[in-house]
Amino acid sequence: MRPEERIWIALDVPGLEYAMPIVRQTRDFVGGYKIGKELFTAEGPRAVEAIKHIGGKVFLDLKYHDIPTTVAKAGVAAARLGVEMFNVHTASGTEMMQMTMAAVIPYRKRPKVLGVTVLTSLKDKDLDQIMGLAEAERSFFNREHVVVTRAKDAQGYGLDGVVCSAKELRAVRKVCGWDFLTMVPGTRSPGAAAHDQKNIETPEYAIANGADYLVIGRQVTEASDVLEELEKIKQEVWQGTKKRFAKDLRRVRAVDFDLVHGW
Ligand code: C5P
Repeated sequence: MRPEERIWIALDVPGLEYAMPIVRQTRDFVGGYKIGKELFTAEGPRAVEAIKHIGGKVFLDLKYHDIPTTVAKAGVAAARLGVEMFNVHTASGTEMMQMTMAAVIPYRKRPKVLGVTVLTSLKDKDLDQIMGLAEAERSFFNREHVVVTRAKDAQGYGLDGVVCSAKELRAVRKVCGWDFLTMVPGTRSPGAAAHDQKNIETPEYAIANGADYLVIGRQVTEASDVLEELEKIKQEVWQGTKKRFAKDLRRVRAVDFDLVHGW
């Protein structure tokens, strides 16, 4: 994969009149575009169609969280729209994941389905509250544990990957291996404004630690020179890729060593 194909721009804008100039300018320099709740609620499916019409790929980030039949039918609608990827919330349960995959698999060139594990805005204590624990039982849930368990379920029920933060990549890779997609938001180049993102990591760090794709919004969309910003990120992705392959090489050598020594 070319470094630029790992970069997905979050089109967090109120309408196509804002989105399309960005798409036209960047089409040849990114993997694709994330359409989230704001743009989709404002414009509907025509947002997907407009981007596809000029050759852009779309990740539909609507985080479907509902009963199995409803999510499966929404998945079919996304497949018909021709999006490259869409996501579901793993908290809707394993039956939902199973039914959604069964519904989209018959589609030729079906979209990749990613699972949202735990929203990064949630801390351990928020998970306790969501799970309905009483005050005395609080601090039972651990974020990383829930993320990894849900990622493993997602993989077990046939999803193609998960959305996770850069900090969770190692744990997810350890449990799910490398043949499982990871889409990572919340990264920023060194020196770039963090906006409202907390705990940010750099694109280089995320790629080196196993991110397949990065979702980056405002660092690019609000840049004075959008293409210059993308070039900067591309170079970081390339550095991260080199680090990742160096790690892979060390892993392979360690396995060879084990084999040679009969371990
Ligand atoms: O502008 P910025 O790069 O911060 O945008 C990141 C995008 O990734 C936004 O669309 C945001 O909704 C999304 N996202 C995130 N953190 C998550 C999940 C999604 O920032 N944990």
